[in-house]
Amino acid sequence: MFPLHRGRRLRVNASIRSLVRETTLSPSDFMFPMFVAEGENVQVEIPSMPGIYRYSVDLLVKEIRELFSLGIRAVNLYVKASEEVKDNTGKEAWNPDGLMQKAIRAVKAACPEMIVMPDVALDPYSIYGHDGIIKNGDIENDSTVEALVKMAVSHAQAGADFVAPSDMMDGRILRLREGLDAAGFHHVGIMSYSAKYASAYYGPFRDALDSAPKQTGEIVPKDKKTYQMDYANRLEAIKEALWDVEEGADMVMVKPGTAYLDIVREVKDAVNVPVCVYHVSGEYAMIKAAAEKGWLDNDQIMMEQLMCIKRAGASLISTYFAKEAAIILNKK
Ligand code: PBG
Repeated sequence: MFPLHRGRRLRVNASIRSLVRETTLSPSDFMFPMFVAEGENVQVEIPSMPGIYRYSVDLLVKEIRELFSLGIRAVNLYVKASEEVKDNTGKEAWNPDGLMQKAIRAVKAACPEMIVMPDVALDPYSIYGHDGIIKNGDIENDSTVEALVKMAVSHAQAGADFVAPSDMMDGRILRLREGLDAAGFHHVGIMSYSAKYASAYYGPFRDALDSAPKQTGEIVPKDKKTYQMDYANRLEAIKEALWDVEEGADMVMVKPGTAYLDIVREVKDAVNVPVCVYHVSGEYAMIKAAAEKGWLDNDQIMMEQLMCIKRAGASLISTYFAKEAAIILNKK
């Protein structure tokens, strides 16, 4: 009887392995998160994210054309707002001539087929670095949601294909859908950050936007745990994703990625919309740091993590490795 089964027959060489491979990656699986800065001809590397830059709109557009030529079909945009425009209402977020709105218009003009998904959350515009309006020492849910609707409609007016609320306020997907529809933007989709955990993996991102929660006068929560999820929880992620689908989300997201692949699979099995996974800044930084030390191989770890995220159930992966991985995939 020994051995009745020989699993190694399907691993004998690269050809047979390629025939039985269950998951594949392609550049159109990726979305590239990009940081936008004021000014012209500006390209500033983020210290904790080697190879990732804040671009002024003129250079952003150039980079996006290149990404498109590599097969990448979606970008997530985040802005670094200047200190002068920050307050506790977030009103700069829906300024028709704000940095985000200018960036969306420029990208859609230069590369109309690139799907543009601006971030919808108040933190880049908040003097407190929080994703909502502060009242009595906490983040006020419903007034924040009304602000997010104005923000999303202004993104749609600028030409956004999707809006991507990353704030984790309750009920925002329903209000965003209603608000977009009322303004005539039935075709603008919503990719909801549904299961976004309160995670230390976001550290480098907050460096990029200078958006970490801070005490500026009023006492505010030192972290985002009253709105982002507790990483001890699993059922809560499914609940949040199902609510968002019910409220009208076209896609849902799980964030971060690699440490949360159990959640990715469970959400994938629970919903009938595409599941996006955000392979976040800290995940990127860890690989870059280890590779710099020569302790891990950048390209191999990158491809392994991206493949495993896809295998877990991701339809789309938002990753700072999008360009690097696309270049490697295009060579194959
Ligand atoms: C904020 C936002 C964050 C990220 C995306 N949108 C940070 C936060 O919630 O503090 C993190 C992304 C990353 O770490 O790459 N609305």
